[in-house]
Amino acid sequence: MFADQFMLDIKHIREQFPITQKTFNVYGNDTPKNLIYFDHGASTHPPQPVLNKYIDFLKNYYANVHRGKHFLSLISSELFDNVYNTIFDFIKGDKELNSIILTSNTTTALDIAASVMRDYEGVTLVSLMEHHSNDLPHRCRSEVIHYGLNPDGSIDMDDLLLKLQSNKVKLVAVTGASNVTGFMPDIHMIAGMAHAHGAKILVDGAQLLAHRKIDVKPNSDDDHIDFIAAAGHKAYAPFGSAFLFGPKDIFDEAEPYIPGGGTVVYVTEDDVYYSDSPDRHQGGTPNIGGAIALAESLKFLSNVGMENIREHEVELTAYALKRLKEVQDLKVLGNIKAEQRLGVVSFNVGDLDNNLVSMVLNYESAIATRNGCFCAHPYLHELLELGDITELKAKLIRGEEVDMPGAVRLTIGIFNTAEEIDALIDALKIISLHQWKADYNQFYAAQICKEIAINLL
Ligand SMILES: Cc1ncc(COP(=O)(O)O)c(C=O)c1O
Repeated sequence: MFADQFMLDIKHIREQFPITQKTFNVYGNDTPKNLIYFDHGASTHPPQPVLNKYIDFLKNYYANVHRGKHFLSLISSELFDNVYNTIFDFIKGDKELNSIILTSNTTTALDIAASVMRDYEGVTLVSLMEHHSNDLPHRCRSEVIHYGLNPDGSIDMDDLLLKLQSNKVKLVAVTGASNVTGFMPDIHMIAGMAHAHGAKILVDGAQLLAHRKIDVKPNSDDDHIDFIAAAGHKAYAPFGSAFLFGPKDIFDEAEPYIPGGGTVVYVTEDDVYYSDSPDRHQGGTPNIGGAIALAESLKFLSNVGMENIREHEVELTAYALKRLKEVQDLKVLGNIKAEQRLGVVSFNVGDLDNNLVSMVLNYESAIATRNGCFCAHPYLHELLELGDITELKAKLIRGEEVDMPGAVRLTIGIFNTAEEIDALIDALKIISLHQWKADYNQFYAAQICKEIAINLL
């Protein structure tokens, strides 16, 4: 299947992803162009084996779980219950001491972690690098203290240590990999530091799951990861399935996240006897097909080999970082080496608006990137060295139109190639010289998308 032990057979990989065949008409070209997808950080596309499993479930076994004695319900329950095992195996979690709560997205998973830790004494330390989803839920549930960053965009470990030493800390929240710079903090070292100060660690694994091997390690290890959250839609599964791994005793003691159907053992007019985790926190019908597809995508990734995937993506990231230097006035946010990051690179081209750059890449070259602030405003604030933003904030609060600061983001996935990076660099060089072809305004962009969408209706 693979050319050698360490390299991906990229042709074979691409053949398994139907989206790699997608073409779009682009401005100024007579023939459609192949989509070049560099938005894996937002969501990834399912490969054929995952689609097959998902569709097979919807077509042949669609039934609610744990509530019926008929064939479909029994088979559906068996498939669903096995999802937990697949996730435990994928992250090497101990099934006796931990639970996995299945949710709809990473945000909900992180919110459950904040919720079950709510009544513990102490503050939650949150890095300034976090996606809002690993910051705001904590702000709603506990006192939050932020720990800082180094000028290169990495985490300031001295600041973290200082804050662990000078506060009673219950939880350290940290990303497994930034969705802005791709920076991967040493989560096991942070776990060790947190445990040494009586705190637990919560890792936001949203970006990590599909790109680097995760090993939460035995619960008895000093550097064990207590909680980790991640989602299928960033790991080559369909939307709507995600998980939170964490300590069973904490989950079992906590108030149910959403009380309701499926969360109880017995209810009387006056009393409620809640189930243990995971059911305790999984009120209502879960996304059964989505969870089954998530497990299938983890099997797909394991079959390809996480080391192979990582090696391929590091190579491409190093190549992209090298070639981006050729683009006049292009500035990459942060200064993180390829080995320390995922294939996530955010940049600006001179003082061009990030919306414009992303639009030109799309409408003239069919290159999909993301742009904006990536739900990480405090991190962007530091990386873009925005300084005092009192006026910007005031305008936003008054509802005035403002040019939001931001960046364009390239995210690399399993099926990307060096040729696609080359095409991106060619397109960026044209943009840096202001030689785009169309007149970009809201009307133009909206019009084209509307035409495509209408044809799909
Ligand atoms: C690092 C990180 N954390 C959390 C999230 C939120 O994930 P979800 O959309 O699955 O809730 C994202 C989404 O982009 C992310 O990149």
